[in-house]
Amino acid sequence: MKNIGIITSGGDCGGLNAVVRGAAKTALSRGIGAYIIPSGYAGLYNLVDFEKLVLLDEERTDRIHSALAGSEAGHSRVKISKINDPDKYKRIMSGLRKFSIDGLVISGGDDTGSVVVDLVQNGIPCVHAPKTMDLDLQTYSVGGDSAVNKIARTVEDLKTTGKTHNRVMVIEVFGRYAGHTAFRGGIAADADCILIPEIAVDFGVVYDHIKRRLMRRIMNSDVRAGTYTVVVAEGIRGEGSEFFSESGGGTDSFGHVKLAGAGRFVRKRIEDMMKKDPEIRSFMQKSGMFVPGVLETPEVREVIPGHIVRSGISSAYDVSFGKEAGSAAVILLDEGLSGVTVVAIIDGKIRYIPTKEAIVQRYVDLNEISFYEQMDVCFGRKPSPYVPAYEQCQGQIERFM
Ligand code: F6P
Repeated sequence: MKNIGIITSGGDCGGLNAVVRGAAKTALSRGIGAYIIPSGYAGLYNLVDFEKLVLLDEERTDRIHSALAGSEAGHSRVKISKINDPDKYKRIMSGLRKFSIDGLVISGGDDTGSVVVDLVQNGIPCVHAPKTMDLDLQTYSVGGDSAVNKIARTVEDLKTTGKTHNRVMVIEVFGRYAGHTAFRGGIAADADCILIPEIAVDFGVVYDHIKRRLMRRIMNSDVRAGTYTVVVAEGIRGEGSEFFSESGGGTDSFGHVKLAGAGRFVRKRIEDMMKKDPEIRSFMQKSGMFVPGVLETPEVREVIPGHIVRSGISSAYDVSFGKEAGSAAVILLDEGLSGVTVVAIIDGKIRYIPTKEAIVQRYVDLNEISFYEQMDVCFGRKPSPYVPAYEQCQGQIERFM
């Protein structure tokens, strides 16, 4: 490889600049020119019209701060095969030829990875560095740890205001169709209840858990203060598998509905149940909070951290994994591999799998949910008993987050 292009694509998140920096540094040390192709696949499609590209030489690479989330390379959500241009692949090839780019390092999630597969089938060498804050690839991916840490911090922070007003706090977080970040972030923040798309919500169970805990906390507090925290993944569904979000925002080029409103839905259900519950009224009276016509039930508030969890500073884990993934992608590309996804560097060996396998969506393992249910975390269903299972590890131990 003489020159490579670096693309970041899909939703941005923590660790991406580390991927870019890792790729650039390794390219430099192998005598390969690394260029930023800006704005994700939109930039790739329009490459032929660019006058020049940014070369990641030593100076320019120094100005990429690995610890900053987001990406210097820019992003877009563009599915190449959906572009309304019969000559799109020829156009991309002309752009690559124009800048003498021999291959691409592409960082992104399942959608981005599906385009990697498509580009490879169309004769463009690509290696995929996995990234997604949703953590729903088969491999660990850059951005997951940063997002989980931000969610945990946000949920923990919200407890101070929740406790001051004796409120139930409902926090809606990104994650699309999988509940990994809600689950891990919620666990890290000692959330009382975590609702994920993998489990159809039983509001009777959620409500009983809230009532039992909130009343206990407030009644046992010498200053009558307590809160209850619910972390809601944006993609939660009911029994009929309908989204609880209002998907009025249309769809993107990958056909994903823009999820929004699951937190509000949950908040309204809890409020309605409280209003109809005579036990809540007598609790409010006993706790000294009841004010007729003004404050008759505990308040329930929803908060949507949204893009905040993808922004700001990346976690140290994501920075180091990002550097490894970016660097390894360049090495694999230079060694002649294509259509593969970097998994990890273990014992100095780069592990990879075919991209089409890496992008198969991974859901939260329900055995892990039972494990946390035996610690009294509510997941919006009747707890499923955890059956202890154990074994001694044999041979190499895989690391995965
Ligand atoms: O895929 C990453 C993600 O953060 C999802 O969790 C979320 O649904 C989506 O991106 C939001 O995308 P956008 O920034 O395009 O609104």
